[in-house]
Amino acid sequence: MIRPGTAAVEQHWDPARYQRNAGFVAVLGEPLLALLAPQPHERILDLGCGDGTLTALIAARASVIGVDASAAQVAAARARGLTAEVVDGARLAFAAEFDAVFSNAALHWMRDPDAVIAGVWRALRPGGRFVAECGGAGNVEAVRRALTATLARHGVDGEAAHPWYFPAPEEYRARLERQGFVMISMALFPRPTPLPGSLADWLDTFAESFLATVPPQTRSRVKQEVEDMLRDRLADAAGVWTVDYVRLRFSALKPAKTAP
Ligand code: BEZ
Repeated sequence: MIRPGTAAVEQHWDPARYQRNAGFVAVLGEPLLALLAPQPHERILDLGCGDGTLTALIAARASVIGVDASAAQVAAARARGLTAEVVDGARLAFAAEFDAVFSNAALHWMRDPDAVIAGVWRALRPGGRFVAECGGAGNVEAVRRALTATLARHGVDGEAAHPWYFPAPEEYRARLERQGFVMISMALFPRPTPLPGSLADWLDTFAESFLATVPPQTRSRVKQEVEDMLRDRLADAAGVWTVDYVRLRFSALKPAKTAP
């Protein structure tokens, strides 16, 4: 069971590795841009902008600032000519500055969702919208189970290293509504995602907290064992891996008139 707020080893982001193994994250985020529908007069905050791939697409249509907890990713976003700052998503300090807050594939790394939602609320002007997509309940469940089973064989409690927050729609909706947001739309849907490389590469890019629980010399073996457990289920005859992603996508409104 995921417990928001519990500790996990910090994930490190290497922009080059991310581009190589996770370029699909931004490409598959493009439908979310359609839901955002940025307008030329708007000012938008991209929360968890990563290397700025989607931020750049927003920048072509509106004014945008990206924020991310990773200094390396912010540097990569700035290298594209974007405005980006290193900011912890649970400590947003903007005040009624944005027409929209956008977030793709980032909220599931933020383990204090109420602090994030409160910061988004403060950042939005009245009438502004929060448009986001993240991993939802059941996301990468097969991989998580194989990882924890493998680590258990190595004498490690993998669940204690679980770094992700994959909420059910009812739970996240309740959090948003408690803050005062009005839901426009919310959907949980499977999105099986073919990988550009091996599952081991994906684990290196995204599952650092789990792998860090065993000594460096054991990690290749753990990755191999996870691949062996999942090959029949997640790899095809050509060796292409498809991970069991589940997305939670929503749009929520900060009403123009809020209770005092
Ligand atoms: C995701 O985008 O759903 C995801 C990212 C990293 C780890 C697990 C899932």
